[in-house]
Amino acid sequence: MKKIIALFSWLLISTCFLTLLTEFAESNHQADNLYRLIKSKRLKNRSQAELKADDEEYYYSATKTYINPQQYDLMLANKIKWLPGQPDGVDFDQYAGYVTVDPKTGRSLFYYFAESPQNSSTNPLLLWLNGGPGCSSLGYGAMSELGPFRVNKDGKTLFRNNYAWNNVANVVFLESPAGVGFSYSSTKSDYELNGDKLTAQDSYTFLVNWLERFPQYKTRDFYIAGESYAGHYVPQLAYTILLNNKNTKNTVINLKGIAIGNALIDGPTRSMGVYENLWTHALNSDHTHKGIFTYCDFAREGNDTKECETFLEKASDEIGDIDIYNIYAPICINPAFQNGSIGSVYNYDPCTDYYVEAYLNAREVQTVLHVKPTNWTACSNLFNWTDSPSTVLPTIKNLIASGIRVWIYSGDVDGIVPTTASRYSINALNLPVEIPWYPWYTNDEVGGYVEAYQGLTLVTVRGAGHLVPSDQPERALTLISSFLHGILPPSKP
Ligand SMILES: *[C@@H]1O[C@H](CO)[C@@H](O)[C@H](O)[C@H]1NC(C)=O
Ligand SMILES: *[C@@H]1O[C@H](CO)[C@@H](O)[C@H](O)[C@H]1NC(C)=O
Ligand SMILES: *[C@@H]1O[C@H](CO)[C@@H](O)[C@H](O)[C@H]1NC(C)=O
Ligand SMILES: *[C@@H]1O[C@H](CO)[C@@H](O)[C@H](O)[C@H]1NC(C)=O
Ligand SMILES: *[C@@H]1O[C@H](CO)[C@@H](O)[C@H](O)[C@H]1NC(C)=O
Ligand SMILES: *[C@@H]1O[C@H](CO)[C@@H](O)[C@H](O)[C@H]1NC(C)=O
Repeated sequence: MKKIIALFSWLLISTCFLTLLTEFAESNHQADNLYRLIKSKRLKNRSQAELKADDEEYYYSATKTYINPQQYDLMLANKIKWLPGQPDGVDFDQYAGYVTVDPKTGRSLFYYFAESPQNSSTNPLLLWLNGGPGCSSLGYGAMSELGPFRVNKDGKTLFRNNYAWNNVANVVFLESPAGVGFSYSSTKSDYELNGDKLTAQDSYTFLVNWLERFPQYKTRDFYIAGESYAGHYVPQLAYTILLNNKNTKNTVINLKGIAIGNALIDGPTRSMGVYENLWTHALNSDHTHKGIFTYCDFAREGNDTKECETFLEKASDEIGDIDIYNIYAPICINPAFQNGSIGSVYNYDPCTDYYVEAYLNAREVQTVLHVKPTNWTACSNLFNWTDSPSTVLPTIKNLIASGIRVWIYSGDVDGIVPTTASRYSINALNLPVEIPWYPWYTNDEVGGYVEAYQGLTLVTVRGAGHLVPSDQPERALTLISSFLHGILPPSKP
């Protein structure tokens, strides 16, 4: 399942990378459809819809938001008494359920909400989004990364994550758009409309209605975080919120900042960063590296010359079968289910995806989560995802200008959106440096590096791949805690 995220991200961000896909796609049958889709996309020139997607106004045209007031009784109905297999001593409240975002077609988005064990009435509200497009914030974010629990090898019981982000914020995990995880539409043709625009609009509608259900959070400081393709979702949703806040008739959402990790924000600079990273991390030969940087023009976004394509294929072959999300991590060779083995957050299990899928498909789990019976998968095939701008840097510029906090963090052993990619993308913004590069610390060790620009902060996380909180839970908690407090990560041990 993990590999699918890459496929989805390849699809949109860098068709130039397509050749890297072949081996990953073949190793996972769930990806076959998608692979065909990507391939067909690559062979055609960018469509009108895709070109339109680069136009900012296309995203932010005003729409009337559906609001269902007074949902407080639904809050009580959404409360989770206990999750099947959860460990003893759970000291925080959890909720889950659907929020209707379009009553006409019957579109409903699923959320899981974990409040803080302490200070939940004063801690900020944080929305977490995974990417894909098409991947679940419940399966990845909540159950494998930053949520309060992870799933044991039996696929039935849970263990506690001591570094969960609900220690410092009340965290909402949203599965979006409709068609992902438990989120659905009663009108199947809705799925054909899925793209960046509808995702941002529906997520906004979700938030406004969620705040009707949990009115005690209406004025709370609000933040959005996410990773990977959420490098699109998070800035687009943030900007949608800011524009809607200006309309006095709407609920004002107290948006204070965004944090995006290993985030897809700009196609061409990302591609350059990826291939440079492959070479500097001993995954590609000198010959291939030289060929790519001689013949490929990353600005062309997939419309490559024959020479370029040849070298891109070589680049893919030379890597071999590694986990491109964390180039030094073991891969899942045999997902053997096992009873009685309690997992540890210090030892991320590369087969986690299988345990999570088993858990979330158990009937008693689905009942407790207040969902209808669903064949849940971590990532869905969302066809026709044509509206995806090649860059969201203009949106990020707007957010910086608005004065909200903007952090980009980066696990430094990811091969999909490596730190080099984030740095090239940030450099394209030409922001003055305010606090130059320094090492930050957690638990007496360098947790990574910080560079604070005017209006934007880059934080790297040492030894983390694409899923930063899975690989480095303690460092990730220090990072998000600093972000929420509006301070840079500690410069001293
Ligand atoms: C892409 O567009 C160019 C020029 O607009 C055209 O020459 C070429 O045939 C097109 N390729 C495909 C596969 O449609
Ligand atoms: C693709 O490349 C060809 C040849 O260089 C060029 O004529 C064409 O305009 C390009 N198409 C797009 C959509 O960039
Ligand atoms: C809860 O808030 C109090 C007062 O601000 C603070 O001293 C304490 O450290 C907080 N506890 C946690 C776990 O954040
Ligand atoms: C894709 O979406 C567009 C509208 O955005 C629609 O006109 C088109 O029919 C859809 N195509 C498919 C294959 O679903
Ligand atoms: C785990 O235990 C259950 C009974 O509690 C049993 O049905 C199942 O086969 C066991 N699974 C494994 C992998 O041993
Ligand atoms: C889940 O998939 C199976 C096999 O395709 C199918 O028979 C069943 O109806 C599906 N269940 C739901 C709730 O969609």
